[in-house]
Amino acid sequence: MERKIIKTSDGSYSVYLPEWDENYHSRHGAIQEAYHVFIKHGLDLFPDHSKVRILEMGFGTGLNCMITYLEAKKRNLTIDYLGLEGFPLEPELIWELNHLDQLGAENFKDDYKKLIASSWEIPIDLNGKFKLLKQELMFADFTGKSVSDLIYFDAFGARVQPELWTEEIFKKMYEALDANGVLVTYSAKGSVRRAMQAVGFTVERLPGPPGKREMLRGIKAQK
Ligand SMILES: C[S@@+](CC[C@H](N)C(=O)[O-])C[C@H]1O[C@@H](n2cnc3c(N)ncnc32)[C@H](O)[C@@H]1O
Repeated sequence: MERKIIKTSDGSYSVYLPEWDENYHSRHGAIQEAYHVFIKHGLDLFPDHSKVRILEMGFGTGLNCMITYLEAKKRNLTIDYLGLEGFPLEPELIWELNHLDQLGAENFKDDYKKLIASSWEIPIDLNGKFKLLKQELMFADFTGKSVSDLIYFDAFGARVQPELWTEEIFKKMYEALDANGVLVTYSAKGSVRRAMQAVGFTVERLPGPPGKREMLRGIKAQK
């Protein structure tokens, strides 16, 4: 599938799929969206110095992963990060997006290079406190149970991938979380909220990132 680099409204770059008329991030600002959805309404729930096991559905450009790495450093978090991706991007294309520069993170160039260019299926350890495993796997084939505290659910939109926003997939997500685990997603669709509730999530509607009124967060409340 053809992939084009585009500039989003906050000046950061993303990838566009002309065939689907779909973007890897919000056109209103890729970096802004990533911070708002996944950090502010996800990672921020975990106290400084804690250990957080993160599962990302849709590793894509690694932007969410890099932002999490930077935030984890500031907060002294220990992170186990599992990034699932069915269609890995070439590291050269990711490099062209210039996210490192836009994040003001040039000091972390070596770790960023490892993050985007490390081999699939081989765990790496950045600075001793950030373990990353990138797995080339389709969402539907994921079978982990009670393996994460926080899920970044970042599939393409339900308009182009309705099969990923179903009860079947959210059931897998629910099972992947430990008690009190959290799933965040940029989507605010009613059908997505209902699918999440149907498998057991307690769902909150939260203010969305620029250009979106709302987003969703699901908690796996302890029974
Ligand atoms: C919205 S983009 C993710 C953006 C990414 N989180 C980032 O920070 O760049 C959605 C990602 O899900 C991946 N994807 C789409 N369908 C998938 C599937 N069925 N299984 C696994 N990955 C899939 C796409 O290749 C794409 O990288």
